[in-house]
Amino acid sequence: MCGIVGYIGGQQAAPVLLDGLAKLEYRGYDSTGMAVYDGREIRMVKATGRLKVLDALTKGGSTLSGTAGIGHTRWATHGSPTDTNAHPHFNGSASIAVVHNGIIENYQKLKKKLENRGYQFVSETDTEVVAHLLDRYYTGSPLEAIAKVMHRMEGSYALGIMFRDHPDEIYAVRKDSPLIVGKSSQGNLIASDVPAILKYTRSVYFMENEEIAKLSRDSITFYNIDEEELVKEPSEISWDISAAEKGGYDYFMMKAIYEQPKAVADTMSPRIRDSRIVLDELGMSDEEIAQISKIYIVACGSAYHAGVTGKYVLEGMARIPVEVDLASEFRYRNPILDTQTLVIVISQSGETADSLAALREAKTRGSRVLGIVNVVGSSIAREADHVLYTWAGPEISVATTKAYSTQLVALYLLAMKFSSVRGTISEAEFTSMLEALQQLPRQVEFLLGSQERIQKFANRYLAADHIFFIGRGLDYAISLEGSLKLKEISYIHSEAYAAGELKHGTISLIEEGTLVVAVLTQEELYPKMLSNIQEVRTRGAFVMAVANANHADLEKNADYVIYLPEINPYFTNSLAVIPLQLFAYYVALGRGLDVDKPRNLAKSVTVE
Ligand code: M6R
Repeated sequence: MCGIVGYIGGQQAAPVLLDGLAKLEYRGYDSTGMAVYDGREIRMVKATGRLKVLDALTKGGSTLSGTAGIGHTRWATHGSPTDTNAHPHFNGSASIAVVHNGIIENYQKLKKKLENRGYQFVSETDTEVVAHLLDRYYTGSPLEAIAKVMHRMEGSYALGIMFRDHPDEIYAVRKDSPLIVGKSSQGNLIASDVPAILKYTRSVYFMENEEIAKLSRDSITFYNIDEEELVKEPSEISWDISAAEKGGYDYFMMKAIYEQPKAVADTMSPRIRDSRIVLDELGMSDEEIAQISKIYIVACGSAYHAGVTGKYVLEGMARIPVEVDLASEFRYRNPILDTQTLVIVISQSGETADSLAALREAKTRGSRVLGIVNVVGSSIAREADHVLYTWAGPEISVATTKAYSTQLVALYLLAMKFSSVRGTISEAEFTSMLEALQQLPRQVEFLLGSQERIQKFANRYLAADHIFFIGRGLDYAISLEGSLKLKEISYIHSEAYAAGELKHGTISLIEEGTLVVAVLTQEELYPKMLSNIQEVRTRGAFVMAVANANHADLEKNADYVIYLPEINPYFTNSLAVIPLQLFAYYVALGRGLDVDKPRNLAKSVTVE
């Protein structure tokens, strides 16, 4: 979603803003803009398209002179992606400039009132309302105007604001959309995410809801919505900027795919001690774990797919009933929750609007919430009762790979911990699972070696219209993820089906040459899957199978086979996902697409 950067300090602001916006490109955007105070006026440049257009228009920022500014990448929600709708937005006299991430839900009502007072709007955006509202309430004090406007706005917003009358200050506001403030000896910064400012500082303040920050060249002051000053402590960012750079790979996605052995090991290893799973960081007693009567797993997109795997694993091992729900459905469907229900919210970014709303809904209804989150200090991490961090490191590509893999590991750890506390698996089973779990990084590494073979195969399907993924049980869960990975970056239509469900309708879509990716790692379901493969092959499908290494006979039943190393059946998704990620990547690459920035998508979906 939209990205915000702001800078005030001793350097020229525009190049700093361009640099920061480049680090936020991964969030997804369709237009860009900057506003810089040049000593007399706030000057603004906006452009539809990629950041390089803004860079060219401003000659690398050199035509926008000044040491205070705000910049923005816009992912259109209200109004199409045009130069006029791009941010920043001005009030009528260009004395107040605003950049915004989020949605002002009552903007139409506010706009009408402002129009009745004579305010004229030039864009179709909800954001322009903020600029005019600030104008309406500004009588000399930015803080007072901002607080008044916050009292009137509904929805989510992270804002960067400049006032021409206060050239030595920029303001930041946060409600339900992420915003951080960075403190550096070269000036102070605001940003939607850490990579944008890591070049300048590691010292970062995470803004809380309804907080306002006033930044000058050498000071940062925080206020609440009642304009009372707050005392906040900065956090030190421990990871390095190289973690958020391509490091020799063509795309961030490929880098992340190759970082999976490390990400999986980093998420797992610190939690295995003396042959036990140690999750003290959760702050859940054995008694509390024993009392859980039901689990809801709530998430969006790939995180939801990790949750589907989690259902099979948690139910299978710990024998706790698990329901998996899309966060956007869960939050509005009046779910039945009580104090013994544990709600697990899974989110890489920790900022996904629907997942955050689902978390709040669950807490309001008395359930405890456990967040499985990658971004430290994110909203979901801060608001959940218990947090299990995935240590994937920063994930830049829109299509998730390493974060998804670490979410699986976090779920395995939880399932094993819950099983051992509740006594649902024997000591011997536990030991053998633990051994299998520890093999995962090496096995993932091994599978990454099949890259060339998969690329060759993928190149045969660059012109496919439809690709189907089928599986049963856990293999169905991974089919969902394989299908999403493919469609989101290659734009080839793809569906995932529980293999037994095909003949209830979908099989009518199979025709001569249709590619069906069949995943069959669950031994007890293997004969059933063979029948499903026969059903589609009889109708002309070409079948690529992903199966356990002990099924050499599969060559007779499928057209192309990828074998996985031997692993405990609960953990096979961690291996099966690797060829599926590589397949999606190479199909997209072969089709000449920008793998890291798929059309219409944003990395962190901070609006409903
Ligand atoms: O940050 P989150 O994990 O909450 O994001 C959830 C989904 O938006 C995300 O997994 C999305 O589906 C991925 N881009 C898919 O690759």
